[in-house]
Amino acid sequence: MMRDGNMRADSVRLVGAALLLVIVPMVVVKTVLAASPTGGASSAAPDGRTLFAVHCSSCHGTSAQGSKIAPPLINAGAAAVDWYLSTGRMPLAYPEEEPARKESAFDRREIDALVAYIDSLSVGSAGARGPSIPTVDVRAGDPVHGRQLFAQNCQSCHGSDGEGNSVGFGWLAPSLYEATPTQVAEAVRFGPGIMPRFGERQLGRHDFDSLVRYVVTLKAPDDRGGFPLGHIGPVTEGLVGWIFGFGILFLGIKLIGTKT
Ligand code: HEC
Ligand code: HEC
Repeated sequence: MMRDGNMRADSVRLVGAALLLVIVPMVVVKTVLAASPTGGASSAAPDGRTLFAVHCSSCHGTSAQGSKIAPPLINAGAAAVDWYLSTGRMPLAYPEEEPARKESAFDRREIDALVAYIDSLSVGSAGARGPSIPTVDVRAGDPVHGRQLFAQNCQSCHGSDGEGNSVGFGWLAPSLYEATPTQVAEAVRFGPGIMPRFGERQLGRHDFDSLVRYVVTLKAPDDRGGFPLGHIGPVTEGLVGWIFGFGILFLGIKLIGTKT
């Protein structure tokens, strides 16, 4: 009896140890991959020109001049490029795909490099270009004023709670619950798709700060009050990986420790 029990405990220990050997590296790899989604060497500064050639030129043309299947990006403006990349809407997998919010294919440094490269292709006067990435100071904004501005300018398309709406012609005004302050600011200033653009004349500094402040407080009912982890993208994945991994580790440890 005793021997039998010990043997069983031994094999349980062995299985547990094997489990740990497999799972620990898996979790580590997953976390590392999540931290750099393209899996590239993270120490070297990303090169915007190369990233563009690999990920964008097939549709937008080798010098961003546009093609039959995609618009030119010359003079699109840094706000638009940053917004399309940080919200994961670009790159598309195929030209007919509807741009939609998803996890970004690039990390922050890669996005910055792409934005800088595409911006460097700009021609003509500053007035001929789309807006640059706006700065916004949400703490300086007045949420009550922001709420009024939202009701006047945004609610008709995005819904009174910012939950999103179908606005016709196949367009969806998406939910505003996931946008970061910068993404809200960018969308307001450059106006993606059929959304109007709101320049400095329509929304001055204080209006702008107030509106963005109000919009980022709009959250799904179960997610109100605070900035959830979802806003930091890849890091969340890593975290989930770790938590999941530790769950299994814990199970493994329990297994090893099991008395028979
Ligand atoms: C498979 C084809 C495809 C690829 C690859 C692609 N795009 Fe696009 N892109 C499109 C299409 C099509 C549109 C127009 C979408 C629309 O308006 O519905 C677009 C629109 C855009 C816009 C908005 C332009 C404007 O002025 O409205 C930006 C910015 C953009 N793409 C950036 C990029 C960047 C940067 C990359 C590379 C990381 C990229 N795209 C890769 C097809 C592509
Ligand atoms: C005419 C309808 C319309 C109005 C008015 C409008 N929007 Fe939009 N908005 C859209 C559409 C359509 C999109 C999606 C565009 C796309 O995906 O290319 C959008 C996208 C956005 C996004 C991006 C959400 C994301 O996924 O990151 C934000 C933020 C936003 N709008 C904020 C606003 C704010 C704030 C106002 C008011 C100042 C406003 N919108 C007014 C139609 C509208």
